[in-house]
Amino acid sequence: MYTVRKLEAFSATALDSAVRELLAALEAEAQQVSSEAAWKDFRDRWMARKNGILTQVNELWLKAAPGPQKREVGQRVNQLKSKVEQIVEAAQARASGSGTAARLQQERVDVTLPGIRRPLGAEHPVIKTMHEIVQVFRNLGYSIGEGPEIESDYYNFESLNFPPNHPARDTQDTVFIAGQDSKPQRDRLLLRTHTSPVQVRYMEQNPPPIRVVIPGKVHRSDTPDATHYPIFHQVEGLAVDTNITFGDLKGTLDHAMKALFGSAMKTRFFPSFFPFTEPSADVAVTCFVCGGPGCRVCKMSGWIELLGCGMVDPNVFEFVKDKGYDPKKVSGFAFGMGVERVAMAKYGIGDIQLLFSGDVRFLEQFA
Ligand code: PHE
Repeated sequence: MYTVRKLEAFSATALDSAVRELLAALEAEAQQVSSEAAWKDFRDRWMARKNGILTQVNELWLKAAPGPQKREVGQRVNQLKSKVEQIVEAAQARASGSGTAARLQQERVDVTLPGIRRPLGAEHPVIKTMHEIVQVFRNLGYSIGEGPEIESDYYNFESLNFPPNHPARDTQDTVFIAGQDSKPQRDRLLLRTHTSPVQVRYMEQNPPPIRVVIPGKVHRSDTPDATHYPIFHQVEGLAVDTNITFGDLKGTLDHAMKALFGSAMKTRFFPSFFPFTEPSADVAVTCFVCGGPGCRVCKMSGWIELLGCGMVDPNVFEFVKDKGYDPKKVSGFAFGMGVERVAMAKYGIGDIQLLFSGDVRFLEQFA
């Protein structure tokens, strides 16, 4: 490997031969540089301030030159310096150029390989059914309303004609937010037990006539079994106008059931009770598991209850009378449909708990 020699003489011929020898070594080494890392070593060997070859040239040739020759040697050394810089620079361009080629080779993409298939998500059958129910009513010209899942006692119970301590509250027990004892009862917060509170919220914001459906999640303190779960979904409906009759209610719901299940679906209205409707009814469809004789799912009745409904109780209108809902002038009907029950009936699912199990093997059947 090349090392800088001491000069015996400082004549022009002696300098020429020393410079020629150095440049030959430089060119040869530059040819060998083929990577970024090798180039750095090469650069340091020739140009490092501390003991690089150029520094040595300075020491051994320039500093050692006797007075009269200093000028001549200095010029040669300066020329040499720019020559070295030029060659080192050129070597870098070559080295990084070949690095790019290597990288390109390494990162080559074979566009003919099959791609990575990522599984597509799909709507949960409950949400899908909720959208289908809402669509049936949108086709009838209904608007869509929404309200909070954390609701006040006032909207969930009081404004729906459940007075404080009324036994009807027991049928809709739920989770109450803790630490609200200092608040008046009507302001206390709870997880809503039905979507009906949005009836009152909607009427506060929109004067009659109205037709609205309200999809949403609700909570009850129920022990899970084949048809109950403490979290479920409802689609509420409310129509208020002058001269709305029970016949309108029956016709609307009968149409909705047939739109959802096919025109052969049989429905049955039977008397029921809700504090906020009068009269009230429950609507049931033929049991989709046993088809009538009775089973675990229909609790041996042959019918599955899908929804509650009725004519809006005048006492409810009293709470929104100043918004244009004078019970002497307007009438209306309301209904609340259990979305899981509808999904179970549509798909023949025998246990509501499957819908909340999060088991992809179950869910992908409905995708
Ligand atoms: N909110 C009632 C329930 O959850 C259902 C219902 C809605 C009944 C509207 C009548 C009118 O059981």
